[in-house]
Amino acid sequence: MNKAKVTITDLKAKKEAREKITMLTAYDYPMAKAVDEAGIDIILVGDSLGMVVLGYDDTLSVTIEDMIHHTKAVNRGAEEALIVTDMPFMSYKTQDVSQTVKNAGKIIKESGAQAVKLEGGEELAAEIRAVVEAGIPVMGHLGLTPQSINQVGGFKVQARENKAAKKLVSDAKALEEAGVFALVLECIPAALAKEVTEAIGIPTIGIGAGKEVDGQVLVTQDMLGIFADFTPKFVRKYANLNDEIKTALKNYKQDVKAGEFPTQQESF
Ligand code: KIV
Repeated sequence: MNKAKVTITDLKAKKEAREKITMLTAYDYPMAKAVDEAGIDIILVGDSLGMVVLGYDDTLSVTIEDMIHHTKAVNRGAEEALIVTDMPFMSYKTQDVSQTVKNAGKIIKESGAQAVKLEGGEELAAEIRAVVEAGIPVMGHLGLTPQSINQVGGFKVQARENKAAKKLVSDAKALEEAGVFALVLECIPAALAKEVTEAIGIPTIGIGAGKEVDGQVLVTQDMLGIFADFTPKFVRKYANLNDEIKTALKNYKQDVKAGEFPTQQESF
């Protein structure tokens, strides 16, 4: 029998019950299966895909087709977790609300995700409202928004100054008003994340935003130590798989060269 999916109503209930929400990224079938079996509430098919899987320097080159391709694989592996897929750079915020709705609809119809995530504040209100009215749940994303990397000048902490902090709180309220069901807060001071979390009724999910939020998200490739190019300060490494993989690969090479693989038991 199919297991019950986590729903956006479950997430709201968790905020009300002060039960922390867990979210991790996945981009393929085996990782989605592992994340799902670990009982994580939400799988984000993030456009971090571009950096930690496809090897780009940033997330800007990721396409709708990339997101659909990887989300389909995740969907095959995840039975219970709610699947949220990032709308990639330039698939929204283009002054064409109807195109945003079409793009969100294409992602949901073709990928099997239950919701989409968009980066940005009040300026997105009309697009979010239209997508939600089309029946598609939307997750918001404020603070460090990697799709605006060329505008914000690098991967660094956002909204440290009073004016920017005030704007972030008012953006969070505008996104809630527009209909987002949850809000990612990335790389902002912990005190500001707490203020936002208390100011809105929808769950906040932090990444580099301290612990006074309703849930946490990390990029799985970072927290498992698979992506080794750089590790942000806010990441806790729960494993060092890159080292383990390299050791295993070297052992394989050594065994083949020495004629120790395969053995008779490993042959027919
Ligand atoms: O793309 C992504 O993985 C994200 C998370 C960092 C929240 O947006």
